[in-house]
This record gives sequence, C-alpha cells and structure tokens, in this order.
Amino acid sequence: MPEARFHIKRFDPKSGVGAHYDEFTVPYEGSLTVLEGLFYVQEHFDGSLCFRYCCRAAVCGSCAMYIDGRYRLACQSNVNHLKGDVIVVEPLPHMPLVKDLVCDMSEFFAKYETIKPWLIRTSQNPEKELPQTPKERLKLDMPVDCILCGACYSSCPSVWTEGDYLGPAALLKAYRFEVDSRDEARRERLPYFDNERGVYRCHTIANCSEACPKELNPTEGIQWLKRAAVRRRLFGRLK
Ligand code: SF4
Ligand code: F3S
Repeated sequence: MPEARFHIKRFDPKSGVGAHYDEFTVPYEGSLTVLEGLFYVQEHFDGSLCFRYCCRAAVCGSCAMYIDGRYRLACQSNVNHLKGDVIVVEPLPHMPLVKDLVCDMSEFFAKYETIKPWLIRTSQNPEKELPQTPKERLKLDMPVDCILCGACYSSCPSVWTEGDYLGPAALLKAYRFEVDSRDEARRERLPYFDNERGVYRCHTIANCSEACPKELNPTEGIQWLKRAAVRRRLFGRLK
C-alpha cells in the first residue's frame, strides 16, 4: 500500500514551544487528498492537529494552505500529483496564526466588508428579475468565482508591508460589483477603493493572480478599478 509522508507545521501559542514541524506517514489506496491526509493524522496520531475545512469540494475556501511551496486548497490537492518524497503543509504565510494550520482571518474579512460587497440598488426594486445580456454576464465570469480563501491576500507584498491596504480579494469583489450591470452603487462604492488604502497601494506585483487556487486574476480587476478611479478624478465620469 502506498504511503504519503506529511511534514506539518505546528504552532500552539499556549504551549510555550515555538513553531516546529511534525512528520506523519499516512497509508492510502488509489488516491488521497491533503485534506484527507490531515483527517487521518488527526484521527490516528494527534487529535490536537488544528485545520479549517468545510465543503471538501473547492468552493468554500476554508482549507487554503501553503502546500509544497504553493498556495493550494487542501481538498483539491491530490498527493499523487505533488512532487517529492515529503509533502510540506504550512498555514497561509504572512497571516497571524491561531493554531497549527489555522490563520486569523478577521482582518481579511473586516477589510472585505468595507467595500460593500453586495449588489446595491438605488432605484425602486423591480417586480421581476433583472435580466442581463450574455455580454453583461460575461464580465462577471472571472470575479464571481472568488471563494474568499485568502491565498491572494496572503501572497501580496503590499499587504505585508502596508497594513491597511485592502488587498486583492476585497478589490476583486469591488470590481465584481462595479462591472455588474444591475449594480447602481457608483458614488457609494468608489470612495472605498479610490483612496490611500485602495487601488493605489497595488503595485501590480501580480503575486495574487499567481497564488489564486481558482486561477482568477485579481490583478486585472484592480487595474480596471484604477482606471475607473482615475477617470472619475479627471473627468468626473463614474463608469
Ligand atoms: Fe482566493 Fe482567488 Fe478569491 Fe483571492 S481571488 S480570495 S486567491 S479565490
Ligand atoms: Fe498585490 Fe496583486 Fe497588486 S500581489 S500589489 S494586489 S497585483
């Protein structure tokens, strides 16, 4: 029976012991995801191992980790497709740690909320649904797939060095609503990203697009927002 060797980063703020790595060997038949491996470790070797998960289908974003030197979702990372004898599993880098593989996401979500990440209507609610043309819907195809896993945020040097920068996930969501033909926020949302915490802190490093496990392109969305913000400043145009 094949075996997968996991090298897992451990950290418990209550233990007084610093961060270190523990190694576990997990037997499996056929295939094994990293998340399944973590379950095995928790059930058979160390019940105190701490990690987040929910859907196991790459749509909830909870199990984003740094696996074998790349940002990945543990539930969609098959050990048969990872290289090397040992699979190194670490929490999202540059994030405050709660325990083991669990990061504190409160700042990430607090920033996300500031851009009003919902559809805003100022005119009267329609009696029927608001249809979109295929061309209008096409604009949402990329940003609507964001699962808020935080990988892009964790990978962005501007977030590491400029603590109040909103970061790529919040800005991608702002873009998602700004290009939505049904959204009428305009004056309401633009000031939240057209400031020193917003788009001007993005230096187009593009780590975010490289890191995204859903293969989205926050960099592209942020550049669109930058152009919209500059147009508004220069010409007073909102879209
Ligand atoms: Fe995760 Fe990608 Fe969304 Fe960033 S853009 S939060 S990496 S899914
Ligand atoms: Fe950061 Fe992405 Fe901009 S990595 S600097 S948000 S392009």
